Amino acid sequence: MTLRKWTVGLAMLCASSSPVFAQDLKSPSVGEYVPRLGDIMSAAQTRHQKLWLAGKAQNWDLAAFELRQLKASLVEAAVLYSGIPISNVTTLEAPLNAVSAAIAAKDGKKFASAAADLTAGCNACHRTMERGFIVMKVPADPQPFGNQAFPPERKP
Ligand code: HEC
Repeated sequence: MTLRKWTVGLAMLCASSSPVFAQDLKSPSVGEYVPRLGDIMSAAQTRHQKLWLAGKAQNWDLAAFELRQLKASLVEAAVLYSGIPISNVTTLEAPLNAVSAAIAAKDGKKFASAAADLTAGCNACHRTMERGFIVMKVPADPQPFGNQAFPPERKP
């Protein structure tokens, strides 16, 4: 088969399979696609950063949302990767709850200290899993996510 035929075939395959992808998005099946742990963690990193930025901007609705997303990533890591000691995940429960409480109380000071504890929890697991070189920190400005607005929307 010529390169051109391959390219056309590939393009058709992609075109015909796009509705399937859309369906998969609606009802993901763990058996079909298992994200790599590093990919789950990269998502966690994004959420961790956004959580911080939203909290700093006192956008508590967005912070609550990002916290939910972050928790989901951590749960996903624990469920899909049984090699992760469960205690490494459960020790994060206290700081996660503290962040949640700070968000509910709209308390910026408590939020900052709970977020720092949470970040220490990330690093504790990385150390015990021979990934001590992956060091998370409370995000510093300037922020890399220039593609999203973090301050809360002004209500008319
Ligand atoms: C239960 C253990 C555990 C916890 C908790 C944990 N991680 Fe990880 N993380 C890992 C492991 C293991 C890897 C290495 C994955 C690999 O080797 O592919 C990793 C990798 C990473 C990476 C590197 C991803 C890449 O591909 O560059 C980032 C970033 C990361 N974690 C962020 C976080 C953040 C942020 C938190 C806390 C909110 C966190 N992790 C909590 C176990 C953990």
